[in-house]
Amino acid sequence: TKQKLWGGRFTGTTDPLMHAFNQSLKYDQRMHAADIRGSIAYAKALARVGILTRDEEAKMIEGLQAVGREWDNGQFTPAPDDEDIHTANERRLSELIGPLGGKLHTGRSRNDQVATDMRLWLLGEAEDVLSSLKGLVRVMVERADKERDILLPGYTHLQRGQPIRWSHFLLSHAFSFKNDLERLQQLIPRISVLPLGSGALAGNPFAVDREFLAKELGFLSLAENSMWGVGDRDFIVEFLMWSSLTMTHMSRLAEDLIIYSTAEFGFVALSDAYSTGSSIMPQKKNPDSLELLRGKSGRIFGNMSGFLMTLKGLPSTYNKDLQEDKEPLFDSVDNVSASLKIAEGVIATMTVHGDKMRAALTMDVLATDLADYLVRKGVPFRETHHVSGRAVALAEARGCQLNNLSVEDYEGLHEKFEDDVVQVFDFEASVERRTAIGGPSRKTLDRQISVLRAALD
Ligand code: ARG
Repeated sequence: TKQKLWGGRFTGTTDPLMHAFNQSLKYDQRMHAADIRGSIAYAKALARVGILTRDEEAKMIEGLQAVGREWDNGQFTPAPDDEDIHTANERRLSELIGPLGGKLHTGRSRNDQVATDMRLWLLGEAEDVLSSLKGLVRVMVERADKERDILLPGYTHLQRGQPIRWSHFLLSHAFSFKNDLERLQQLIPRISVLPLGSGALAGNPFAVDREFLAKELGFLSLAENSMWGVGDRDFIVEFLMWSSLTMTHMSRLAEDLIIYSTAEFGFVALSDAYSTGSSIMPQKKNPDSLELLRGKSGRIFGNMSGFLMTLKGLPSTYNKDLQEDKEPLFDSVDNVSASLKIAEGVIATMTVHGDKMRAALTMDVLATDLADYLVRKGVPFRETHHVSGRAVALAEARGCQLNNLSVEDYEGLHEKFEDDVVQVFDFEASVERRTAIGGPSRKTLDRQISVLRAALD
């Protein structure tokens, strides 16, 4: 009868339910390429310290490459006793190259192996996520660049506040994603720390050259403490935290666009490609893409908090609890990646109704500008705020807009009002006055766009 890899000291068999409970191959097989890469590097390191002859090294590398090809071609057949990707690959290697396969694991443990695989795998995924994130920011910047003529009310408390450019709104979200971009880049050096050569916990007794291993696998640095090397999963926590914050930004963007796509607002219309219908109400076109972007954030936060609970209170080094790092990480990577691509598509294809935005600009959003008019004539702002408020109240009482009050009305409200007060009632002029860095004027928008483009290079 076949023995489990670790079966030497066992006489009894594993309970079938326990076997299934323990088995991670169904989900960790997606790290097959990382596992093979790590093993090839390790075989080379073993040859360098004389554990393998040059000939054995070559045979072993060939064997590992053959196993890798089986995965790539969908021809790898898992055996019932394969516990995880590491045991599966080693079992298959030995089938292909015979007892020599049994030398691969010399001085290595699945503890340093799995930590290495996870880091290698995540480094590859992080590159893809970074490029998807850049794609999203790029689309936002391109739209903002083209659509800067469109004005709309900017909201606080979801109440109309002051006029802004549509581009300014779009870029406000793009700046959150720019920070996410930087944060993910800053995470890379902490993912790129090599555990291999840490053994089970107490290091490697065959003096394998870990700097060589790091170079072979493209790691930036080494785990300097073997116990830390096998027990640390902070790089996963950090990625899960990063995902949570990124999806918070995604959710807020989605919420804005859901509101803007209602008939009541009508500022934007999603393309058919990112909308779905109702099974009963024929007229419906629902923003399901945006709702899913908002909704996905929940599970992403769950992955983070769930895994933190798994880690909390664990004794040092490896405990099997750590196998529970995989599903939350894989799920977050998959869903964040998909979300970024969907968001890019939604933004690239939605219709923007500048006329509806313009129609939402009522004169009251220039009340601050009215107060500022008097400020420019030397009146303290606290006083001008009141005067402008009284103008708003007067217009409201008359059922008209601020620009329908006469110059005489204004003169009655404050002695500093003159004929030129009519110049206040111009949305474009209001936006163009906001030239301080960070504002919605054309000039300051140019600056925002160039800052974002620089972050994308
Ligand atoms: N499948 C395991 C995991 O994902 C690999 C490490 C197993 N190590 C051990 N000592 N049982 O964590």
